[in-house]
Amino acid sequence: MIEVEGLVKTFGTGDNAVKAVRGIDFTVPEGQIYGLLGANGAGKSTVVLMLATLLRQTEGTARVNGFDVLTQPNEVRQSFGAALQETGLDPLQKAGELLELHGRLYGYDKAAAAARAAELLEVVGLTEDRGRRVGTYSGGMRRRLDLAAALIHHPPILFLDEPTTGLDPASRRAIWDEVAKLQKEGVTVLLTTQYLEEADQLADHVAIMADGIIAASGTPDELKSGMGADVVDIELADSETANRAAVAIGNDAKVIGHEVRISTTDGPTTLAEAINALKQAQIETKGVSLTQPTLDDVFLNLTDGPPAHE
Ligand SMILES: Nc1ncnc2c1ncn2[C@@H]1O[C@H](COP(=O)(O)OP(=O)(O)OP(=O)(O)O)[C@@H](O)[C@H]1O
Ligand SMILES: [Mg+2]
Repeated sequence: MIEVEGLVKTFGTGDNAVKAVRGIDFTVPEGQIYGLLGANGAGKSTVVLMLATLLRQTEGTARVNGFDVLTQPNEVRQSFGAALQETGLDPLQKAGELLELHGRLYGYDKAAAAARAAELLEVVGLTEDRGRRVGTYSGGMRRRLDLAAALIHHPPILFLDEPTTGLDPASRRAIWDEVAKLQKEGVTVLLTTQYLEEADQLADHVAIMADGIIAASGTPDELKSGMGADVVDIELADSETANRAAVAIGNDAKVIGHEVRISTTDGPTTLAEAINALKQAQIETKGVSLTQPTLDDVFLNLTDGPPAHE
């Protein structure tokens, strides 16, 4: 459904040139959710904008729903719906009106546009708020409205650029549920995110982008097995106490000097269990710390180590 080959985007020329995307390839099969995971400035939005025909690539080709983004932009635009990072929502407009207008732009008559707007407001849970100005919406409500607007014309492909950045956990989950439901209906989704957890929850396939390239790609499980784990460190009075502590904690506790270190996939739970075990054994701790890998760690881990998946 989406085919990208050798895609490059350079902004500006000469000394000021910024190579935002340095040659990437990927394919998204029909019905899959493909996650582009990367930190700020990795090039995620630039890729999405090129696929959405809103930016012209410097090199390479991209096809969306079988159509070439450069030579068949109109067909491409009919094929996708997009909720982009910089949203064009008019703060003075009301949600219901906005969706109806979108419908009219896609060729629905007045009645059909109103019906489609009502249907989508229900889908994203904004029916009650349809008469409120968008400017008064919370971040989560806006993102849900973005999603509704992207769905107006029943597109087979959806581009979601960081659909949950800045949202609270409940709003994030609501969006995830919605996207998962759309996939069940057969929609193909290209999603960008900075959140490992989001890619893990939603995506069938994840590509980690850094500095304009795809540094690693695979299923979430493949990627995770190559990733660093959470690390729990517990400081004890001396190495003898550390040895006793390691025995009390059991599992994978390793003694390093007067500290005990545990690598785990679930740091908070492991930390709580270790503290409990030490309390039971009446061993006093001097300090504890929990380190969880950030996206950067994940990226470094993947590029330093052998290419674990391809
Ligand atoms: N119009 C532009 N002109 C010049 N440079 C740009 C332009 N758009 C993006 N860039 C640069 O390209 C690089 C990639 O930007 P992009 O917006 O694609 O990153 P991103 O992965 O979407 O980041 P974020 O998570 O912050 O949204 C950045 O260095 C950015 O400054
Ligand atoms: Mg972006």
